[in-house]
Order: sequence, then C-alpha cells, then structure tokens
Amino acid sequence: MTALTLSTAGAATLRADALVVGVAKPADGGKGLVVATGAEAVDTAFDGRLAAVLETLGASGAEGEVTKLPSPDGVKAPLVLAVGLGSAPEKDDVFPAETLRRAAGAAARALHGSKKAAFALPVESADGAQAIAEGALLGTYTFTAYQEKPKGKDARLPLAEVALLGGKPRDKAYKAAAERARVVAEEVNRARDLINTPPNDLTPEAFAAVATAAGKESGVKVQVLDEKALAKGGYGGILGVGAGSENPPRLVKLAYTHPDAEKTLALVGKGITYDSGGISLKPAGHNETMKCDMSGAAAVFSAVVAVARLGLPVNVTGWLALAENMPSGSATRPGDVLRMYSGKTVEVLNTDAEGRLVLADALTRASEESPDAIVDVATLTGAMVLALGHRMFGIMANDDAFRTAIHEISEEAGEQSWPMPLPAELRKGMDSPTADIANMGERMGGGLVAGLFLKEFVGEGITWAHLDIAGPAFNEGGPHGYTPKGGTGSAVRTLVKLAERTADGDLA
Ligand code: BES
Ligand code: ZN
Ligand code: ZN
Repeated sequence: MTALTLSTAGAATLRADALVVGVAKPADGGKGLVVATGAEAVDTAFDGRLAAVLETLGASGAEGEVTKLPSPDGVKAPLVLAVGLGSAPEKDDVFPAETLRRAAGAAARALHGSKKAAFALPVESADGAQAIAEGALLGTYTFTAYQEKPKGKDARLPLAEVALLGGKPRDKAYKAAAERARVVAEEVNRARDLINTPPNDLTPEAFAAVATAAGKESGVKVQVLDEKALAKGGYGGILGVGAGSENPPRLVKLAYTHPDAEKTLALVGKGITYDSGGISLKPAGHNETMKCDMSGAAAVFSAVVAVARLGLPVNVTGWLALAENMPSGSATRPGDVLRMYSGKTVEVLNTDAEGRLVLADALTRASEESPDAIVDVATLTGAMVLALGHRMFGIMANDDAFRTAIHEISEEAGEQSWPMPLPAELRKGMDSPTADIANMGERMGGGLVAGLFLKEFVGEGITWAHLDIAGPAFNEGGPHGYTPKGGTGSAVRTLVKLAERTADGDLA
C-alpha cells in the first residue's frame, strides 16, 4: 500500500525520486504553456524557462499528457514530471477537483518503478488536496497477484510513497482530507482486487469469507446465509440463479452502526462471481470478462468498510447477493418459475437476466428493516452500456429528487453518471401467462426494463435508487487518469459520499 504524507517542504528542497508539477493551456485559448501554481520554485531553478523547456519537448498541456525531464541544479529530486491539466481556469477560478485527480493518477502511473514522488500540483483547498491524494493513490494500483514473475510495466513496483506539497499539514481540514483520501482510495483498490480476482478463486463462499474477515478488522458486523439458510428462508431468486453451479450461493449482510446515527442507509450489490449466462449461455466474446459481474457487491462491500473506517455518524447496512450463474443439469431452465423471497413468482425466460433475480431477494430482505433509503448497485444490463458507454453509470429511482441527488453526488465524487427514467409502459412487456412477472421484457430500453423489475421488490414507501454500472465497472481498454485496466471500483466513491450526505442530514 502506498504511503501518503502531507509535507511543508519546498518543491525544490524535498528529497524524492521525482517531482510532479502541473502544466496547462492558457485560459484564453492562446498559444504557449502555463506552469501551474505549486511549481514556482522549480520554474525558478529553470531560470523561469520551465514552460519554454516543456514546449521544446513537445508538451501541450493536454489533460493526462506526461512529460519527464531531468532536474536542473537547485532541485533535489532528480526528475521533474510535468502532467497536463488541460485549459487553465479563468482568473479567480481553480482547477476542477476531477482534473487534479486524473492528473495525479496519470502522474502516479507514469512513476511506476520510482520509490517516492512529491506532488507539487495546484492545491487551493482541502478538497483539492484530497482530490490529488486520491488520484495519486488510485493511480498507483496494480494487480499482479497471479503473475509469478510480473512482466513488462508490471515488473516495476508501484510508488511506495506520495508526498503532497502545498497543503497545510497542521490544518484540521487538510489532515481530514488526507485521511479520507487514503481510506477511500484503499477501499476502491480493495474493490478492484476483488473484481480482478479470477472466478475460480472468488466463489460466493470465498467472497463471503473475505467479507467476514474484513468485517472483524473494521468493526462491521457480518452475517452470512449459506445455501441451507437460503433454502430455509425461501430465497428462491438467489437459489435459482445459483442452482447450476458447484459453488453454492450466499447472502451476506454487513452492518455498520454509529451511536449518534439518525439515519439508516441500505446498500444492495449484485454479486454474480461469474456470469456464463446459464442455460441461456452467452456466446464467446461476451463471457471473457464476466468475472466482473460481482462489481456491484464489491462496491457495496468496500463502501461499507470505508464508512466504518471513517466512523461516519450514519447506520449503513450492506447486502451482497452472491451466486455463480452456470449451466448444468441442476441449473434453472428458461421456462422455470421461481418463488421469490417476497412470495412473488417469476417466470425465468432468459437465465442470463439473473442479476435482477438475486437483487430482487436482497431488495425485499433489505426492505424488511425499513431503512431510510435503499441503493442497489449492479452490472445489470448490456443495454446500459449501449446507452451511456463505458465511463458512465445510469441512475434509476422511485423518487426524482433522490435520483437527482445521487447524480450530483456522483459528479462531486468524480464519477460520471446520468439519470434514466422508469417508463411505466415498459412493465407490460414483463407480463407472464404463468407467473406474477417474467424476468425479461421488451429488448428496447432493456436497462429501464430491468430497473422496473427491481422496483417491484422494493418495500412500499421506501426511497430507492438503482445504479447500473455495467459500463464503467470494468475497463477493457487502456488505463487513463487514475483508472487502471480491469476492475475500476466504480460507485465506491459515490456510495461513500452518499453516506456522508446522509450523515449530514442533507438527504433521505
Ligand atoms: N451481466 C450481464 C450484463 C452486463 C453486460 C454486464 C455487459 C457487464 C457488461 C447481465 O446479467 C446480462 O446478461 N443481462 C442481459 C439481460 C437480457 C438477457 C434481458 C443483457 O443485458 O443482455
Ligand atoms: Zn447475465
Ligand atoms: Zn449478470
């Protein structure tokens, strides 16, 4: 784990392997480069020519661009790394937090193999410091657990130490910001590890064991329902999805409570440790990355642990609906009817629409405890990826104000999202001649159909939102900013911020 310190040292005098500075395009759209605040001492060591030198090297200030150059006399760190920040802000404005987060992440990735880096980016506030720290710590992430001898870029170790310059180490707000950044980044990275772990190792049982162990460490109460307990309780949705697998399903409850809490938030995560599609088997090309289908449960788990570590004055309950979706002689068939935990019956028309089945049981169970709000997180539909692409999740809700609030919170947390509707006319597509509802409806608007299905399993009068993270959960492209290839930890930061807002009494 990368260490984080706030330092009062000057950029030129701190001992480190590399010094990170920011460079931007002029605010007026004109030619040339602007060296960002924080890099003054370095610019002085370059005789005021840092911008000119960077321009000679081809730097443009574009977001995420990284230019490395040897330090001149007068700068202790041997290497200066200039990272692009895009357009400089207008006078009296500051760089957006997400710009700083991404830049710090790109710099941290480019410094794999260095031991200690000092970040001299423009810190204008505790929020700015938090964004830079978060970006740097998220950018250092690598997943090499399954490589005996890590190759290529992975052969180099990630940054061991990040020193943040320009902040106020003795100021309470800055200290809290650094601590929050450390906890949040560590928990996002924990979710990434779980998502990247191959499905032959991360079975529902193994995931439940990880949750039990982490709960002990962080003061979160963990209860696990195994397949016997699920059968006794009548969890037909979770059991039906897990029926084809040698690895039986689990429902995990995580409970964090605070003595001063006035509100209770319930978080529900889709935890399909592998989604083959079941009897409605996915074709080749669609199943290679389906170990990521437990990203919602990973986000919920990490968020609950983060909230506990931060000691937020709010009660948060997490529900992980864990199952493996496999075809076999014991698997649920298209045409089978499941009796759900709620008592409703569902005709399974497509066994690949399994996420909504496990979530339905968990939503009903979560509703029994009458929380002030429920938020579920799921890699639920390919349709949402078609609609919003790979960097945004969709938000659906039974309350417009809550949906708007979550959208705003996610943007503040630096996670892109978009509000989506739940059009009532799509419900009739799920009418079943045999059961109360079918698990599939019209193909068009498939993400919204799935949302409408879930809505029916939320307790009467409970505020609920559904985050479909199928797009951003797993990055099949190259790394960018602080986002690595593979599991991204999507939604963790949004959920933690939501818990903070709920604790502040701003919500629910
Ligand atoms: N896990 C998938 C959704 C998914 C797709 C996640 C792409 C991540 C990336 C889900 O279980 C699924 O297969 N959904 C089907 C539903 C359909 C059969 C109604 C889909 O979206 O095609
Ligand atoms: Zn599926
Ligand atoms: Zn799935």
